[in-house]
Amino acid sequence: MRIVHTISELRQALAGTTKTAFVPTMGNLHEGHLSLVKLAKEHGGPVVASVFVNRLQFAPHEDFDTYPRTFERDCDLLRSVGCNVVFAPSEEELYPEPQVFRIVPPPELDTILEGEFRPGFFTGVSTVVLKLFNCVQPRFAVFGKKDYQQLMVVRRMVQQLALPIDIVAGDTTRAEDGLALSSRNSYLSPAERAEAPQLAMTLRHVQLSLRNGQPDAAELEREAMDMLRQRGWAPDYVAVRRRSDLGVPTAEQRAAGEPLVVLAAAKLGGTRLIDNFEV
Ligand code: PAJ
Repeated sequence: MRIVHTISELRQALAGTTKTAFVPTMGNLHEGHLSLVKLAKEHGGPVVASVFVNRLQFAPHEDFDTYPRTFERDCDLLRSVGCNVVFAPSEEELYPEPQVFRIVPPPELDTILEGEFRPGFFTGVSTVVLKLFNCVQPRFAVFGKKDYQQLMVVRRMVQQLALPIDIVAGDTTRAEDGLALSSRNSYLSPAERAEAPQLAMTLRHVQLSLRNGQPDAAELEREAMDMLRQRGWAPDYVAVRRRSDLGVPTAEQRAAGEPLVVLAAAKLGGTRLIDNFEV
C-alpha cells in the first residue's frame, strides 16, 4: 500500500491504471469505512482511500479542531483490507488558496434535513468531493448509506455535471446493539453509549409501523421525536421521506407503495448522531 500526500505523487502512483475505485473519508476509520473499501475492491481496479478532514464542511461552532485524527491506525486498517493507495493531502495541498469556487447543491436537497440544521455543509462536501474526484479520477466511488442525504447530493452532482463515475452505495455497518458506527461515537460517555442504540431502535419502530400499514407518517414522526425527548435526547428531526429525492411523500404515493426512508438526527449530550432506515 502506498501512502501519498500530494496530487502529483497520487497521479504517479495511479499512472497507467484503469477502473480505480475511490473511497473518500475523514479518517478515524471503523468497520463501516472498511466495508466500503471491501466493496471498492470488488470492482477489479486499484482502490484509493482518501483521509482528509475537510474544513469547508464544518461550521465555525462544529468540531473541526477536535475531530479525531488517527492517521497511523487508519493506514494499518486500510492495509489490512487491501487498500492500494492512501491519499492524505495537507490542507495547503488541497486548498493552496482560499477555495472560493464552490459547488452549491440544488436548494431542494441543500435546505432540508441535514442541510437545514447544517447550513453550508453540503456545499463543503460537494466541493471537496468534486476536487478529490479530479485528483483521483476514479471510475467508481463508494459512499455509505449511513449519510443518506450526502449520498444523494453526490449522485445528483455526478448526474448534473456528467462526471464519468459510477457511485456505489454501501450499507450501514452497525454495532451488535444496532448503533450505526460513526467516528463521532468516540465522543459518547459510557452512559451515552449505552443509550445511543435507542436512535436506531426508534427508527426501526417507525419503519415497522409503516410496513404494517400505519397511514399517518407525521404522527409517527412526532411520536418518535417525543420518545427521544423523554429519554433525554434533543432531536433535530425524524422524517419519513421518498427515497428518490427525500421529498415528503403524498398520501397517494404512500398508498401506491412509494419507496421510503426514515431519517433522523438527534443530539445526545454534546454529540450529534444521524441514522436512517429504508422502509
Ligand atoms: P466520513 O464521515 O469519514 O465517512 C466516509 C464514508 O464512510 C462516507 O461515505 C460515509 O457515509 C461512510 N460511513 C460512515 N459510517 C458508516 C457506517 N457505519 N457504515 C457504512 N458506511 C459508513 O462522509 C465523510 O467522511 C465526508 O463527508 C466526505 C465524504 C469524506 C467528504 O469530506
